[in-house]
Amino acid sequence: MKKIIVAIDGHSSCGKSTMAKDLAREVGYVYIDTGAMYRAVTLFAMQHDLFAPDGSVLAEQLEQLMPQVQVSFKLDPETNLPLTQLNGTTVESEIRGMAVSSHVSAIAALPFVRRAMTEQQQRMGSEKGIVMDGRDIGTVVFPQAELKIFVTASARVRAQRRYDELTAKGQTVNFDEILKNVEERDYIDSHRAVAPLRQSPDALLLDNSDLTIAEQKEWLMEQFKARTASAPL
Ligand code: DC
Repeated sequence: MKKIIVAIDGHSSCGKSTMAKDLAREVGYVYIDTGAMYRAVTLFAMQHDLFAPDGSVLAEQLEQLMPQVQVSFKLDPETNLPLTQLNGTTVESEIRGMAVSSHVSAIAALPFVRRAMTEQQQRMGSEKGIVMDGRDIGTVVFPQAELKIFVTASARVRAQRRYDELTAKGQTVNFDEILKNVEERDYIDSHRAVAPLRQSPDALLLDNSDLTIAEQKEWLMEQFKARTASAPL
């Protein structure tokens, strides 16, 4: 069957990664979570004290250290899902916490960070057969992707999902703080100068506020089948 690139972009915490992971597993494609890559760079910056007390990044120092930042993915043999690696160490749970979440937008707005991540993502997708989720996959990383989806849901619904996810992991979190974080990230992601979050004109819009995971999975599978049937060899 023809292999394609599936680009899934959209707002934070709207279930992009769940649908991207499910699709990749179902069709035997590689799944890449590009948000995890920006989160790993953020963790690196935190480990090296590269944030000023006001939350801004010491960008010059980070730029010098960027050649030392290696982000990769290793498959978890039990779940068969990718575990994010920062310089060879698994950082999957550290990068999902609130500390990284509240610093990541500043890192993702830096042009030299985006350049490094975009190049790496393009290499990962050079063979096609990939499902990649993020903010700029259909617009910047793979403008030629055969299937582009732009996912959204209301900020409250997304904050509630994030709250449920973190409490299920045993973390003590505050709903209002999460909602504020979701809204702030939406604003920064959509208003930054480089690769802002926006729907590509040829992307299909999916508002999943009122959809179950099973319903959106089915919808995505239908789109995938339609595109693989029509994609040129
Ligand atoms: O999808 P996420 O919440 O894990 O993403 C973390 C942050 O990284 C988010 O603030 C947006 C940013 N990001 C980005 O700028 N470009 C991407 N391709 C993926 C994520």
